[in-house]
Amino acid sequence: MIPHSFIDELLAKTDIVDVIDQYVPLKKGGANYMACCPFHKEKSPSFSVSPTKQFYHCFGCGAHGSAIGFVMEHQGLTFPEAVQILADRVGMKVPQDRNMQPENAAERAQRKQQQQTLETTVQTAAQFYAQQLKSSLPAMDYVRKRGLSPEIIAHYGIGYAPEGWTPLAQVFQPYPNGELIASGMVIDQEGKQYDRFRHRFMFPIRNLSGSVIGFGGRVLDDSKPKYLNSPDTPLFDKGKNLYGLYEARAAIKDAGRILVVEGYMDVVALAQFGVGYAVAALGTATTAEHIKLLMRQTDSIYFCFDGDIAGQKAAWRALENALPQLKDDKSLHFLFLPEQHDPDSFVREFGKARFEEALLHESKPLSRYFWDALTADLDLTTQEAKAELVKRATPLLNQITAPTLAFLLKQTLSEITGIDASNLAYLMGQAAPQRHITAKNYKLPRESFRQPETPTLVQKQIRTLLLNPAWAEYVVFPDYLRVQGDFACLLALADMYRAHGGISAAQAIEHFRDTPFASTIEYIFRNTMQSNDDLSEASEEKLKEFQDGMLKLVEMLKKEQINWLRQKGGNLSAEEKRLLVYLLSGK
Ligand code: UTP
Ligand code: MN
Repeated sequence: MIPHSFIDELLAKTDIVDVIDQYVPLKKGGANYMACCPFHKEKSPSFSVSPTKQFYHCFGCGAHGSAIGFVMEHQGLTFPEAVQILADRVGMKVPQDRNMQPENAAERAQRKQQQQTLETTVQTAAQFYAQQLKSSLPAMDYVRKRGLSPEIIAHYGIGYAPEGWTPLAQVFQPYPNGELIASGMVIDQEGKQYDRFRHRFMFPIRNLSGSVIGFGGRVLDDSKPKYLNSPDTPLFDKGKNLYGLYEARAAIKDAGRILVVEGYMDVVALAQFGVGYAVAALGTATTAEHIKLLMRQTDSIYFCFDGDIAGQKAAWRALENALPQLKDDKSLHFLFLPEQHDPDSFVREFGKARFEEALLHESKPLSRYFWDALTADLDLTTQEAKAELVKRATPLLNQITAPTLAFLLKQTLSEITGIDASNLAYLMGQAAPQRHITAKNYKLPRESFRQPETPTLVQKQIRTLLLNPAWAEYVVFPDYLRVQGDFACLLALADMYRAHGGISAAQAIEHFRDTPFASTIEYIFRNTMQSNDDLSEASEEKLKEFQDGMLKLVEMLKKEQINWLRQKGGNLSAEEKRLLVYLLSGK
């Protein structure tokens, strides 16, 4: 946990215009700075950065946030990673976790230092392999056989580990050293030391900063094992990294989707044929960490598996690990290729257009794949099969926290089995799903941003307040009114401004990160920002509109309160009766 005070100070010292300009060149346009939006494809600029509000917003796709949010989205980083980058820029030191003892901080520094030396070692090995590839006849033969272009070999830094027991001794003297062993490049067994990768075609695995952290190495013939991978090391965690992600980042942004395939060769071949947004898990199943990493890159995630049994199994494992991570605004799709194909062979035979057509039109959305797989061997005309389906689906559905998706899947189960929702909920050991999902639980998928729903008055007020912190003083509701839903969000925002005088919209957004109101604010921004005017300076006119809005909101709450009290009918306490009379008197 990084303290709010630190985030406030960081944002106060950071100029969002400078930060974004490093990644996306900005042009001054009136009070704001403009550019073509880096988060969706467009020809004329609708991406606006406000220097006074320290805030960016795209009127095309709804992307918005602080400098921290921008670095996270644009670079695909986590919150602490983005904070670290911005802190480094302005020379601030990110405070250590409160639980961290001083000696642990020292250990941490030491670990960083060790990682740095390991990185240098692995990087040196990668350069050596890349250079060896060009001078090795058998390796270049293999390149031709697999039809890899020089461009793609360079893009992925593909290399060749020469024959012999200790090829790396050519670049590391004395051989071996502690780093070679710690990075998994050299095996140290029973007093003998030798290279892990010998006479293999080498795929360097990079982390998100582009540093090589490990390798996959393929034999040049049919011998076994076909692939060797670096072991997990202080640098390399297979469960947390994806092959090709660094290389794919621009293509992922461009396509607005990411594709997960099974093999190194698949990633490389797809890229060569123009599908540059593919990544692969590293000889392991797709883990929950992988899913989180994928979701940080983009909203649409496609899995493409080989058509064989192993592919089916791998797909189901990916689905299982994805369930707890699902979000209503992220979509997952599964494509199964014909049995004799993998993505490599498919794209080589049919080309990019046919591959993408299959991906977009023949893949199954997660929900369809879910039911298809669960019911494949069931004859649903029988009661037994329906009971079995409830049994199979229950533990899976109960893991889904994305509210809309969970609701819809349960509804489907109810339709398939003919068990009504409340009985089904009972069978699944849960409270009945809520019939009415309020707008604030929804996060709309990006595609629908272009037709925003009409924002409610309270939503407009929240937006206006967020951009004009000084107006918090006008947000007052009489104590006797119940303030709920979006109204509570408005009040919380005003309270926060009152408690932390002088903070900017960007700082407010960061205060709300990971609170229950974060999704409300997100929703409001995506759906109510309509013109650049919203980011311009406050005016008398706007203030008057805001004040009038507050009066109307109080009236709305009063009416709601009256209705609620009336519905309670005979069960009113003495105090509630007095309140009803007071409200009805219209004072
Ligand atoms: P595949 O056997 O499908 O490999 O394994 P591939 O990428 O299509 O390679 P080619 O086309 O035969 O050259 C898929 C992935 O499983 C892991 C590797 O990550 C591989 O890319 N794997 C496979 C291993 O880790 N070890 C193995 O022995 C085999
Ligand atoms: Mn293959």
